[in-house]
Amino acid sequence: MGQRPTRRFPVLLGIGLLACSGGCPAGAAERVMLGDASLTAGIPGTGPITVEEVERFLADPKNSVELSPELPLGLSQGTKQITGLDTNPLTRAKIELGRQLYFDPRLSADATLSCASCHDPSQGYGANTRTGLGIRGQQGGRNSPVSFNRILSGAQFWDGRADSLEAQAVGPIANPIEMGFTHEGVVERLKGIPAYEKQFQKVFGGVSIDAVGKAIAAFERVIVTGPSPYDYGEQLRPFADLDEDDIQEDEELAKKYAEAKAAAATYAMSESAQRGREIFFSSKGNCTACHVGANLSDEKFHNLGVGMDKPEPDVGRFAVTKDPKDTGAFKTPTVRNVAYTAPYMHDGSLATLEEVVEWYDKGGHANPNLSDKIKPLKLTDQEKADLVAFMRACTGPTPAVETGRLPAQP
Ligand code: HEC
Ligand code: HEC
Repeated sequence: MGQRPTRRFPVLLGIGLLACSGGCPAGAAERVMLGDASLTAGIPGTGPITVEEVERFLADPKNSVELSPELPLGLSQGTKQITGLDTNPLTRAKIELGRQLYFDPRLSADATLSCASCHDPSQGYGANTRTGLGIRGQQGGRNSPVSFNRILSGAQFWDGRADSLEAQAVGPIANPIEMGFTHEGVVERLKGIPAYEKQFQKVFGGVSIDAVGKAIAAFERVIVTGPSPYDYGEQLRPFADLDEDDIQEDEELAKKYAEAKAAAATYAMSESAQRGREIFFSSKGNCTACHVGANLSDEKFHNLGVGMDKPEPDVGRFAVTKDPKDTGAFKTPTVRNVAYTAPYMHDGSLATLEEVVEWYDKGGHANPNLSDKIKPLKLTDQEKADLVAFMRACTGPTPAVETGRLPAQP
């Protein structure tokens, strides 16, 4: 072998050393692996968060240190795709403030709904209803997408109308059929809660709607999916091209190989899921024409014909670009943890992953703007089952999150 085999494994062996970890010198960012539950564990204590607890938390300098995040195995392929940190750097204090706001129903007019009502950690950070259920039981027109892995995503909403996570986060508060409040109203209310006021003061210099958006976005950016059986399988893949003897000659590589092999065995993909992976990635299924990259989404907009048979179809991306070609096009959702977030599609019209696969198999629904990447697939029943098994193997852990601890009402 002409080349040292380690060169072929930049992702496995390359470790960025730009930031420090633990006991950082002043001014240096702290390196942190996203998924680390200490980021989302909440201010220590029980019951409503008191002003004294907030003061103690904010007085600890480590909570104000800028964080330099690393992505877990799988998502780490998308490190270059990380967005938003230049204008809204992460700190533990900001993430914690965002966590509280995310779970706090006081952000809605009648204090009944929080972000988590429609993006619930126990429902895969989506909601298992067909469309979002807003204030006073009002029904929205679209299915709640997931709020994780947003650190790899720029434009938000099914039609991409918010160009950042910060802009997105304040939208629902003032949406009459979501949280039904006003931005002025929410700022006044938060100013009246001393445990919030203190945190906004320290992190942003005061309460503002802009700060609310930044804090919530910071929290969302640390909610990422950890390695799934699919990712452990991918980690083992490059070794398949190498000669076993060559691997064993290189001590470090041999160690990596042994680790990758053990992990892939512990979090094994079924044979069906492995076959499904081949269909997903090859021209047979053509799924990676759109579900590509670390988060299995191209972040682009496509028309699959979903809902296009209705008398007045949702125009989707057209509302943003006014380009007729974008009529009925919606943003490619991630396939990560998709097993948790039925029903599917922008209108929640497909109940199961099996139904989604049938949709693709029949070539979507014919309409003038159907994507040219959508064609009948003519899969066998086994192949359809394999695709579903593969998508189920794209399920990884999300970090443990404190949901109950919120600032005390004075
Ligand atoms: C009443 C249910 C409901 C509430 C409450 C709600 N959302 Fe949503 N959320 C939705 C729906 C439905 C969409 C998709 C709307 C669209 O695309 O037009 C959405 C879209 C999003 C997206 C875009 C995801 C993507 O892939 O583009 C994010 C992020 C998000 N919400 C976060 C939040 C945050 C943060 C809050 C609290 C401030 C919140 N949501 C409150 C239902 C809700
Ligand atoms: C042309 C791009 C494209 C191709 C090819 C494609 N998808 Fe999609 N996928 C999308 C878009 C866009 C949506 C959302 C469509 C909508 O709601 O109108 C979607 C939705 C989904 C959903 C629902 C996710 C959710 O959270 O609602 C799943 C699951 C899915 N696709 C799996 C697949 C599989 C499996 C294949 C291959 C057989 C595939 N996709 C091929 C673009 C594509």
